[in-house]
Amino acid sequence: MFNIVHAEFLAPGIKRFLIQAPRIARKQKPGQFVIVRIYEEGERVPLTIENSDPQKGTISIVVQSLGKTTSLLNSLGTGDHILDVVGPLGKPSEIKKFGTVVVMGGGVGTAMTYPTAAALKQAGNRIISIVGARNKELVILENEMRAVSDVLMITTDDGSYADKGFVTDKLRQLIQNGVPIDLVLAVGPIPMMRAVADMTRGERIRTLVSLNPIMIDGTGMCGGCRVLVDGKSQFACVDGPEFDAHQVNFDVLVQRNGAYRSQERQSMAEYRRELESQLKSTEAEGNGVCVVKGSTL
Ligand code: NAD
Ligand code: FES
Repeated sequence: MFNIVHAEFLAPGIKRFLIQAPRIARKQKPGQFVIVRIYEEGERVPLTIENSDPQKGTISIVVQSLGKTTSLLNSLGTGDHILDVVGPLGKPSEIKKFGTVVVMGGGVGTAMTYPTAAALKQAGNRIISIVGARNKELVILENEMRAVSDVLMITTDDGSYADKGFVTDKLRQLIQNGVPIDLVLAVGPIPMMRAVADMTRGERIRTLVSLNPIMIDGTGMCGGCRVLVDGKSQFACVDGPEFDAHQVNFDVLVQRNGAYRSQERQSMAEYRRELESQLKSTEAEGNGVCVVKGSTL
């Protein structure tokens, strides 16, 4: 059991957990992740470690409510426990002096870029960060990213905060303005990472993406996280999660990530029905206001 030392919403549906996990905190390197399970028969969810404090023995993860398991996870709060937290898993990010690095975080992917951006900054790189979200409410870790960046650009799809547009609009501007770029790291939804790869391929700018396929064991044994890179099968849990964006077959990634979509929808619908019936029975018991702890539904 892993104690949740602190939990807070960073944005609607996006929660940060500080978890007591001393062994993971001591070993964790930027770019690595943990696999979390909240009940015995539950789904295993891979989550990038956003930060760690070896002295206090804590790690932090950022969770977006997307399906049943992540919604259940986000209903937990300070003082609750998580059944299993396994890690650190995956290869750490390569940290060295590249020169100018453009770090791109799309939505909750920003949390995944943060530890690597911080380490790259410390290694002497010039960091240009581009953080994008659908709207103002969903912009996360602005202050944290500013602290580790020489330049921070923010975009919102609807223009409700900072500049209107996608993160790729800012990357295009940098390229058009002739800013020398030695490396791009892009983490976010697949369409974003694919768009970044398409943009930098012709410019011959080395580009890395962090992939998040379905994972089960996290040790390279089950094959669940198989991705196609440079025409070869790779396992994101042990060979990644970071890969050369220009070699990733995004079509296969989309197809494999959608393999259980109907089961995921069904499971989410059942979870919503359960919640609604709990709410109704609480109301029927005359308890007045019913608060489902931390729920984002
Ligand atoms: P989102 O859909 O709100 O997009 C976030 C930002 O990405 C947008 O504001 C935009 O700037 C950019 N973007 C989106 N589509 C784009 C496109 N077609 N071209 C260029 N830029 C584009 O993101 P979200 O809701 O926060 O993220 C949800 C998705 O991200 C989920 O599917 C989740 O699984 C995935 N995700 C991936 C990782 C990873 O490690 N790669 C980590 C966390 C989440
Ligand atoms: Fe099983 Fe990667 S999660 S091989």
